[in-house]
Amino acid sequence: MKIALIGAGHVGGALARGWSRRGHELLLGVRDPSQHTVQALCQETRAQAQHPREAAEAAAVVVLALPWNGAAAAVATLGPLADKIVIDCMNPLTVRDGVLVLERGFTHSAGEAVAAWLPEARIVKTLNQVGADVMADTRGFVVPPVMFMASDHPDAKATVAGLLRDLGFDPLDAGGLRQSRHLEPYAMVWINQTLYQGKHSPWAFAALTRAPLCP
Ligand SMILES: NC(=O)c1ccc[n+]([C@@H]2O[C@H](COP(=O)([O-])OP(=O)(O)OC[C@H]3O[C@@H](n4cnc5c(N)ncnc54)[C@H](OP(=O)(O)O)[C@@H]3O)[C@@H](O)[C@H]2O)c1
Repeated sequence: MKIALIGAGHVGGALARGWSRRGHELLLGVRDPSQHTVQALCQETRAQAQHPREAAEAAAVVVLALPWNGAAAAVATLGPLADKIVIDCMNPLTVRDGVLVLERGFTHSAGEAVAAWLPEARIVKTLNQVGADVMADTRGFVVPPVMFMASDHPDAKATVAGLLRDLGFDPLDAGGLRQSRHLEPYAMVWINQTLYQGKHSPWAFAALTRAPLCP
């Protein structure tokens, strides 16, 4: 599948590495395609670097792997992305009193904001819940790490579930896009453990089903 990664930082780079191993055609939507790190990533993943709008227009799936601060302006340059699947990986983070916190929640979410910016696209909130190291390589976990998806478009969720499986995740449907209000704070559980509680990456969440108990 042709996938445009808008932003080629930690998350964009990790997804490029993960999906390149499964043979996907990758476009890196970056401000400076000639940047050394971008060129190195292209070489490693057989991706092609383009300007963000060009990459987004050429792909079936567009991944927003941008810092929340400034995302609205960056997304506005991409065009309407009508009918395209747009994966929103972003967590609306800000620093308050020296600590990373969410700048929205309970009554709104970044996922819903993205849907308001791109009303003609099919938004799927996912890949925001664990660190980029895990997204790059899910090998070595005892069971596949879980990855929740929230979207109002069941067909888009089915396609994204396949892409999540390609990365080695266990995709789980969280419901409509409004559920981003839960998936973004859920990411904070991972961030808090990793940054402030000493649980070092790579680690991830799993959805475990209990086998029938013997009477
Ligand atoms: N890091 C994680 O482990 C992780 C995990 C889950 C979710 N997330 C979320 O994923 C998003 C990306 O995080 P990250 O860690 O990958 O950030 P990052 O390493 O800082 O990378 C951000 C990328 O976005 C690009 N960018 C910034 N403004 C842009 C614009 N206007 N147009 C095009 N590209 C632009 C930057 O390119 P330049 O080189 O041109 O500045 C950079 O390549 C964030 O919203 C974060 O909350 C991160």
